[in-house]
Amino acid sequence: MMKGKFITFEGCEGSGKSTQIKLLAEYLDKLNAPYIVTREPGGSEIAEKIRNLVLDGKNKNMSDSCEALLYAAAREQHLSDIVIPALNAGKMVICDRYVHSSLAYQGYARGLGEEYIRAINSRVISGYMPDITLFLDIAPEDAFRRKHGADKNDRMEQQGLEFHRRVYEGYKHCLKSDKNFYAVDCRGNKEQTHANIINILKDIIK
Ligand code: TYD
Repeated sequence: MMKGKFITFEGCEGSGKSTQIKLLAEYLDKLNAPYIVTREPGGSEIAEKIRNLVLDGKNKNMSDSCEALLYAAAREQHLSDIVIPALNAGKMVICDRYVHSSLAYQGYARGLGEEYIRAINSRVISGYMPDITLFLDIAPEDAFRRKHGADKNDRMEQQGLEFHRRVYEGYKHCLKSDKNFYAVDCRGNKEQTHANIINILKDIIK
């Protein structure tokens, strides 16, 4: 069987990833196309435990590097439990966040640098870079407004607007360095954004 396509969604908190993933799933249902929807960090039993650890608002003293390594560890487990088997079964994998989140959040916003993030992720993701990454291009201040504020129990969402602006800049940088990384125009309503996504995926979904 032909290997399935690997599609990842990226964006700042509140950028509308979950809404767009839902609309894409409904679209694929109508086509009877085989797919799974999953997320990072988490998506499988052990990876969800790592997720709880890394996002727990009580872990205030976690070092930046520990955080980056935990995201990479969750990624490794999730790839082997969920992503690779589904791709091998010919299913499209739609994943909410992947290594570009580590580049934007840990590499840029935390300041660990792109090189370090690539180094700790290179073995983890070897051979499994997304066929297409859809970056929901909406500035963090607009995204937060849509979302009605941050979740106080989430370590990442507790970070201030400055942090999230750096995340956004990090994503903008990915546009230059990764040819499979696409910015999705999100200025319209959710149906227009969905249409923009389908247009980007038109060669993949047939
Ligand atoms: P989640 O609740 O899934 O956020 P969202 O709904 O915005 O996608 O939490 C995931 C958080 O983890 C989010 O703040 C981004 C962060 N993250 C990283 O910092 N690095 C990573 O590599 C990944 C996958 C996520």
